[in-house]
Amino acid sequence: MIKIPLSTEQEQEQEQESKQSYSETLCSTEGFENKTTKGITLNNQQYVVIQKDSQLYVYKNRCPHIGINLEYQPNRFLDKEEQYIQCSNHGALFEIDTGYCVAGPCSGKSIIAVAFQHTNNTILVSGE
Ligand code: FES
Repeated sequence: MIKIPLSTEQEQEQEQESKQSYSETLCSTEGFENKTTKGITLNNQQYVVIQKDSQLYVYKNRCPHIGINLEYQPNRFLDKEEQYIQCSNHGALFEIDTGYCVAGPCSGKSIIAVAFQHTNNTILVSGE
């Protein structure tokens, strides 16, 4: 595949677009380590941020079963074995890297993944 270099103007447009799309600071990732989970409220929306290995994941903190928050204690979202995100209400299990429900009353559904940008230890979202 041949890569065509972008002009400076195109690069500036892309940079501008990405800055406009991800303008809201969700949280800092300072001190995050493997299996860190964090619940955050931004603009009346609830989010969960998870680090697994060196990857970050952001989801809406809303169980697809009946639409309530997932955590059983503040910032505690994982099952005992720390393999899945677990809903505290009826125990549904969601894959950390996809949000897909593999067990529980909402099997086959998913929690909603949120697009984000990670820059300078900060997670930015569109805030929509
Ligand atoms: S509310 Fe989450 S499994 Fe029922």
